[in-house]
Amino acid sequence: MRVVSGIQPTGKPHLGNYLGAIVNYVKLQDEAHAAGGECFIFLADLHAISQPHDPAELTRNTREMVATLVACGVDPAKTVLFNQAQVPAHAELQWLLNGTARMGWLNRMTQWKDKAGKNREGQSVALFTYPVLQAADVLLYQATHVPVGEDQKQHLELARDIAQKFNNDFCTDDAPLFTLPEPYIPPAAARIMSLRDGTAKMSKSDPSDMSRISLTDDADTIIKKVKKAKTDPEPLPDNEKELEGRAEAQNLVGIYAAIAGKSVERVLGEFGGQGFGAFKPALGQLLVDTLAPINARFLELKDDQEALDAILARGASQAREAGRDTLDATYRALGLVR
Ligand code: TYM
Repeated sequence: MRVVSGIQPTGKPHLGNYLGAIVNYVKLQDEAHAAGGECFIFLADLHAISQPHDPAELTRNTREMVATLVACGVDPAKTVLFNQAQVPAHAELQWLLNGTARMGWLNRMTQWKDKAGKNREGQSVALFTYPVLQAADVLLYQATHVPVGEDQKQHLELARDIAQKFNNDFCTDDAPLFTLPEPYIPPAAARIMSLRDGTAKMSKSDPSDMSRISLTDDADTIIKKVKKAKTDPEPLPDNEKELEGRAEAQNLVGIYAAIAGKSVERVLGEFGGQGFGAFKPALGQLLVDTLAPINARFLELKDDQEALDAILARGASQAREAGRDTLDATYRALGLVR
């Protein structure tokens, strides 16, 4: 079992990142550790330069993201925790895979289409080739499980296509080089939506801070954001079917279920027939109880730059070692003399 996943150190991590991905980093880290497998979690800082950014902010966010992940339960004693920029093999393998990835495949990526919008010509080359780097990230470590939210599923399918084509083109049938990675997507929290618009994904780039709950929000802010979350005037139904077509209600009930570790049916069993006046304070309190210990631990860790850099340096050295054989084998398979 090889668990591999990444998160961009841009902006503040939010509830979508937490429920969609980070909770599963911790779960799979523990499962891999117990089964004698390995877990690699990295900060995708090389991905972060694909869009306009402030270098000083990227440095600060990178350290803060390490503190956040550790505060959430990612344990550097069980997980190789590092940033891509300290492991040149990610960028090297991307170049080697650029010969295999097809323009048409990248042109179909919905995230490229969404982010580029009508201004494709004005985008960085990195934004377009970004999914090839993402493929390199997981193929380098022969990942089996990749914990991600729903929005990364297409990128993982691309990673599988690249791996498959490379294996077909450059390897014999009995000795494929790359393992095909499987996305690991939580059914209940695959796509946490904005608190202001139940049809838009909760995202770091949404201009409204009220649209998301950041993992570092204090209790008052969390309660306020939940109270102001968009809803409809109807009471909650007592079964899941009747939630359909009520995007905001569905999202809030889904968040409650994911955090409480209960099914949506069970949550509706408790709150069916009641209005949001009763449900929102319960949800707010549940979020505060879950996030307060994370926030407290984050505040303890975030200013100890030396300790955070030491975690990254140790993780990077382990990651460089772990990726070496696959990178060497890729050069060899392509006939590159070194
Ligand atoms: P990023 O930094 O946008 O998000 C990190 C993780 O959080 C998940 N996520 C969500 N899940 C549910 N609901 C939401 N509203 C929500 N918003 C974000 C994402 O699916 C992701 O799992 N390209 C990636 C980073 C990356 C990566 C990789 C991931 C680079 N290389 C290799 C996996 C494997 C990204 O930008 O994630």
